[in-house]
Order: sequence, then C-alpha cells, then structure tokens
Amino acid sequence: MSFSWHTKGTNKTGDPKSQVGLNKKNESARTRMEVCKALQHIVEGGRTIDWIRAEKSQWISTPLHRELIYGTTRHYLSLQEPVNNLLKKPFRDKDRDLFHLLIVGAYQLKYTGIASYAIINESVNACVVLGKPWAKGLVNAVLRQLQRAAEAAQTEYKGSTNGSEIDSAISDHPTWLKDKLADQYPAQWQALVVANSQRAPMTLRINTTKVEPSFYKAKLREDDISFAESRMAETVILDTPQNAETLPSWSAGEVAVQDLSAQLAANTMMELIPATTFEPRVLDACAAPGGKLFHLHERLSAQFKAHQLFALDSKKKRLNETKTIGNRLGHTDDPRLSMLCADATDEDCCGDRLFDGILLDAPCSGSGTIRRNPDIRLLLQPDHLQAHQVLQLQLLHNLWRRLEEGGTLLYSTCSIFHEENDQVIEKFMSAHTNATSVALNLKYGSATTLGWQLLPSDKNTDGFFYAGLTKV
Ligand SMILES: C[S@@+](CC[C@H](N)C(=O)[O-])C[C@H]1O[C@@H](n2cnc3c(N)ncnc32)[C@H](O)[C@@H]1O
Repeated sequence: MSFSWHTKGTNKTGDPKSQVGLNKKNESARTRMEVCKALQHIVEGGRTIDWIRAEKSQWISTPLHRELIYGTTRHYLSLQEPVNNLLKKPFRDKDRDLFHLLIVGAYQLKYTGIASYAIINESVNACVVLGKPWAKGLVNAVLRQLQRAAEAAQTEYKGSTNGSEIDSAISDHPTWLKDKLADQYPAQWQALVVANSQRAPMTLRINTTKVEPSFYKAKLREDDISFAESRMAETVILDTPQNAETLPSWSAGEVAVQDLSAQLAANTMMELIPATTFEPRVLDACAAPGGKLFHLHERLSAQFKAHQLFALDSKKKRLNETKTIGNRLGHTDDPRLSMLCADATDEDCCGDRLFDGILLDAPCSGSGTIRRNPDIRLLLQPDHLQAHQVLQLQLLHNLWRRLEEGGTLLYSTCSIFHEENDQVIEKFMSAHTNATSVALNLKYGSATTLGWQLLPSDKNTDGFFYAGLTKV
C-alpha cells in the first residue's frame, strides 16, 4: 500500500506546510465521504460500480477511491455483522452514510496494512465532511473496538490452516450464491468462493495489427514489467497489475487490457470459420465495448485478405465508447469494420444480411467475473438467472435466422451457472433441428455437456462459457 495519510495538519499556525497538511487531510476525508456515497448507491440503490464510473466519475477517480470501493464491496457482507454488533441501535435512514463510513474503516483495519491510528483519524475527520461532527465519538469508539478485534483475528489467523480463508470467503457471499455454487460445482465450490474473494489478474492483448507479439514483449522487459506467457502468442499476464496508461506504447494502441478467458472468443471463432471462406462476413451481435470485436478484427486481418465484420449493440453510449477504444487501437476507420446500433432480438436488426459466423457474447449475470466486479455478489439475485436466460434465448432464436447454412454461431457468457450456459444451448437445440453442437477444445477450461467452461478458480481465467452451433 502506498497511501500517504496526513493526520497532523492544523490551520492554527497558518504556515504553508500546515496548510498543505490541512488540504490533504480534507482531501482524504472527502475521498472517504465520496466512497461512502458510492457504497450507499450500490448497496441501497442497486447501482453497479460501472454506473458509478459512468455517472459519478468523481467518486471513483483516484486509486484510493477504487481501492476502497472495490475492497469494501468485496468484503461488505462479512463486515456488516461486526459493525452492527457494536452499534447500540441502527442508524436512522438519513445517517446511513455513517454506517458506510464504518464499513470502509472496518475494511481498512482488517484488510490493509495502513496504520490503524491513521484509519481511525481519517474516519473521524470524515464525519465533519459529512456534516455530522456529532458522530465523531461514536465512529472513534466503534473503530477502536474493531481495531482490537482485527489485531486479535490476525494473531489467530497466523497459526491457522487455510480453513479460515475458505470460511472468510464464504462469509463474503450471500447464502443463495454459495449454495448455488456448491450445488452446481460440488468438487470446486470452495475454490470458487476463495477465487471470488481475490483480486483479478491483469492480462494484456497485444494488437497484432500494430506490433509483433515478440517485439511488444521485449518492450515490456525493457520497462521492467514482469509477466507470464500464455498459450496464445498475443496474450500475457502481468505479475503485478498497473495503470494501463503506463504500459509501453499504450497511446499508440499496441496493447489492450482483456481477460484471458475473453481472449478465447476470437481465437475460437477463427477456428470455426473455415480457412477457405472467401471474404468472411462476421457479426459480433453484442459488441460493446468491443474487447472481443477488436481482437476478432485483429485475427481476421491476419488470416484473410479481406473480411467484413459488423459490430451490433443496442446501447448507443456503449457503442460510442467502443469507437473511442477502437480509435486508440487504430481500427475504427477501417472499412472492413462497421458499427450498427440495433436490438439484436429485433427481426430487422441486421437488414437482410447473412453471416458466415456470428459471435453472440450475450448479456448475463457476470457470475464468472465476481473477483473483477465484486458488486455482483451484492446485486445479483437468484431470479435474475431465469430473466437472463429468456433474453439469451430470444437473441439466439433471432440471430440464428441471420446465419448462412454451414455457418457457425459462437455463444458465450461470462457466467458459470448452467441456467445461462448448457441449459440455454439445450433449450435452443430442442427448438432448432438444423443446429448441431460443435465439439470445442479450448486452450484453457474443460468440456461441459454442450459447450466449454472456464472457471475463476484457475488463477488466470475469469469464469466463461463457450458453445458452438453450426447450421446444417
Ligand atoms: C457482455 S456485454 C458484451 C461485451 C463485448 N462483447 C466485449 O467483449 O467487450 C453484452 C452487451 O450486450 C448488449 N446488449 C444487451 N441487450 C442487447 C440486445 N437486445 N441487442 C443488442 N445488444 C444488446 C449490451 O449493451 C452489452 O454491451
């Protein structure tokens, strides 16, 4: 942790040094207040971290904001109880921000190496920024008690086996989610809950239309950025995540950040389009913000003299983001790539075009990406899976009409639950006698009845599902 804490600032002397200290102190307290607001929107307003990023960007603008928002949502469920236990009575609705202030402090005391006096001072200062100086004593008292509990737990943890890691990870999951994991993955569920509570790796995709992978890897080495190779030439996993903009040739578009599981989409799609296809026409039906789209474009460019790639998405704002990303990568002015804003469940979404290959990266629960998007554990509800399934089937039924005979549709989700994966394919196939399932053999993960599953418990991959369907 490299946060600097300023607890000694005072405005009594008025000298510039103490003014700097005071400003920093106010800044840190304001950050804490903004994190509390973000947390409140997530936990009580049902908003996602992505929503905060899009609509309240100032609340998530610095590394400290992000560390606190991600850390507290990751551990929110297990932190609630000890905080509640120390309160004589619950906060009134209008003072719920104080509860979140305590959660943030509790998170730091338990999970970060920051000195506890600094955490407690900062939290007490934040009461003033929240306009509730009367709560200073209460916040101080609760955090001091939590500090003692955290110190005791740390001593206990040192002598314990990894049972405590599993128990702690379980307590960070809602019961229904833990039960579903145990039900669908009886052999792996404990590894899955532990994986969900860890931080995700940072994986890069080297833009092969701009640079040879070996050249880019040499640039990483020159900059002392250590990484692990993967089974794909263009994919590397950083040993330590870092700000993407500090990567070599970032602004020149030589590299993108994309999870390894997601990078299997373009690689698999390439295996499903016969190499003899003349000028393949490919549709990415849920394309924004374009991770798989641009990878696919990079791979198609390397393999075919010409191709046409159509990017469709129903959300204009997300397509605009896609364009911005494509600009950096040098792809958006490419005449082989077209963007289309339409609803892919709509019969007319693609006009009368037919495609040799369709990638349907369907909207889903994101249950395979909980370590990357910790808010999912707080927001996902069991009945959401059925609602996702309904939309996934609608998308499949409609897009199937747009596939050439002999063409293949690659269905993917970043979910690990059967409701959104094998079950969808099974229901789809029972309604379409002209669909055959393709036996996939990806570089990571393992086969399911009708597709291929990657799990976040394999340390380098997010949870992802792929299934190939050929039209006969
Ligand atoms: C999982 S995300 C796609 C991620 C993208 N493939 C990538 O790799 O960056 C799902 C996308 O589906 C889009 N979507 C949701 N419902 C849709 C619909 N009915 N028609 C078209 N796009 C839709 C969402 O806007 C979202 O961008």
